Amino acid sequence: MTPKILSSDALKAPKHNSSDVAWKHKASQLLTAAFGAIPLSLGRKIRRWSYRSFMGQIGKDVFLGTGLDLMGTDRIFLKDNSMVLNGVRLNCRVPNSRIVLGPYATLERDICLVSFGGCIEIGEKTGIGPFVCMGGPGDITIGKNCLIASHSSLYANNHIYSDPSIPIIEQGYICKGIVIEDDCWIGSGVRILDGVTIGHGSIVGAGAVVTKSIPPYSIAVGVPAKVVSQRKQEPQVSVVS
Ligand SMILES: CC(C)(COP(=O)(O)OP(=O)(O)OC[C@H]1O[C@@H](n2cnc3c(N)ncnc32)[C@H](O)[C@@H]1OP(=O)(O)O)[C@@H](O)C(=O)NCCC(=O)NCCS
Repeated sequence: MTPKILSSDALKAPKHNSSDVAWKHKASQLLTAAFGAIPLSLGRKIRRWSYRSFMGQIGKDVFLGTGLDLMGTDRIFLKDNSMVLNGVRLNCRVPNSRIVLGPYATLERDICLVSFGGCIEIGEKTGIGPFVCMGGPGDITIGKNCLIASHSSLYANNHIYSDPSIPIIEQGYICKGIVIEDDCWIGSGVRILDGVTIGHGSIVGAGAVVTKSIPPYSIAVGVPAKVVSQRKQEPQVSVVS
């Protein structure tokens, strides 16, 4: 992954300068205030119908829970049959941000996804547990059929801190991105740091801090995470004499 270096100002959202964006912003504030707390299937139907006017996409039969906190809504794309449960926060305020929730993917309650100018993409049928946090500005790409358990966090950036005379907050960011390939299981409370790829079919044990990439079909545990076993044997090469 080639690292991107960004100034600290790059994450500031500009004022809405196009009338279409400003209108969508107003519509999202008014409609979420009016309909955001209505419970049960009636509330979900009203939200599905009315939020279409300001979201990037709301596919067929999308489930929208109560108390959603949505920003930069025209950059949020919810594919058919995806589910966003109560209290989820999706923030795409910064230009070029994007959040894409694949078909049948689920965001459990009180998840916080903040894109900050990157793309957070969650694959088909992947389930993200409650209280998970993810943040850019690097891209975060999660494949199909993954499980990410509660209280985990994925942050695709590091602050630059090389100059001790300048506050860290003003020194900018370096970001490489995070990839979780298909069919991975990430245990509860796992921290995944920038630049990491978790290979197809891998498992990361509860509480691990993943600082380096993990090859496909591995089981990794601990702080920092180390591979302790493999789910799949390498194919044996048979020698014919
Ligand atoms: C990683 C995990 C799947 C391994 O399960 P397992 O294959 O049955 O492994 P074992 O329990 O036999 O443990 C193997 C070794 O790894 C260690 N280990 C297992 N999980 C660990 C973890 N999360 N952190 C640190 N070490 C761990 C064990 O102590 C054991 O060490 P030892 O050989 O020195 O005794 C499981 O321990 C785990 O963390 N599951 C996540 C559960 C979770 O978060 N669920 C959320 C809801 S989906």
